[in-house]
Amino acid sequence: MKSDGDIPAHVAIVMDGNGRWAKQRRRPRTFGHQAGLKALRRIVEYCGRLGVAELTVFAFSSENWKRPKKEVSRLMELFMRALDKETRELHENGVRVRFIGDLEAFSPELREKVRQAEQLTANNDRLKLNVAASYGGRWDIVHAARELARDVASGRIQPGQIDEDLFASRLELSGSRDPDLFIRTGGEMRVSNFLLWQGAYSELFFSPVLWPDFGPEAMDEAIAAYQSRERRFGLTGEQLRQKSA
Ligand code: IPE
Ligand code: IPE
Ligand code: MG
Repeated sequence: MKSDGDIPAHVAIVMDGNGRWAKQRRRPRTFGHQAGLKALRRIVEYCGRLGVAELTVFAFSSENWKRPKKEVSRLMELFMRALDKETRELHENGVRVRFIGDLEAFSPELREKVRQAEQLTANNDRLKLNVAASYGGRWDIVHAARELARDVASGRIQPGQIDEDLFASRLELSGSRDPDLFIRTGGEMRVSNFLLWQGAYSELFFSPVLWPDFGPEAMDEAIAAYQSRERRFGLTGEQLRQKSA
């Protein structure tokens, strides 16, 4: 990674590989999720130091509800404990926490803890941490479409007013820039329903490192790859060079 290079302002991470990490150690999958939480602490801290402004992590997908009941309930317990244990420290470190996803599916108790964490950290501005839980990119888009449909039905807006900006304003992460760098750990090369709209022009980086082992070194590698890319957004390379000249 070039220390004088461009640091991505918004990084999104699919934190994958906890189960395999645990399996390699002949331990239950939950053990991997616990180690995954430690890895998240490390990366949040490192992103703050690097000057990344916003980090969005995929913690639990809308499809993950279909996992064995026991794994799901252990994950919910882990979220609860993490909120209890980590919120204060995040707050002291200037991290603003936000949850994105279909929180209606959570228990009222967990929803309340989420609300408290968001409220406590709402005015922090060192690093924005968005935790995607019970999140799916398709859910996000359908949810936005439903809200806009309601506005049309009630006469608040005309169908012709719906453009990309208005649509994006109804999505989770409205008000955030689109992720510059999209990382998936754990070796799978797929998006698995994360940030489908917002990732349209993100630079993708797939790391073979299992999430619990993902640390500053692996992050540096992802950022180095990002720094070596030319982001053209549909333009030609020549156009870009003219613009920056
Ligand atoms: C990611 O790790 C965490 C969640 C999806 C909750 P996995 O649990 O998917 O780990 P692998 O992919 O089975 O190794
Ligand atoms: C994506 O990982 C979701 C999270 C990391 C939270 P999965 O393990 O659920 O994705 P697939 O099933 O391999 O596509
Ligand atoms: Mg997985």
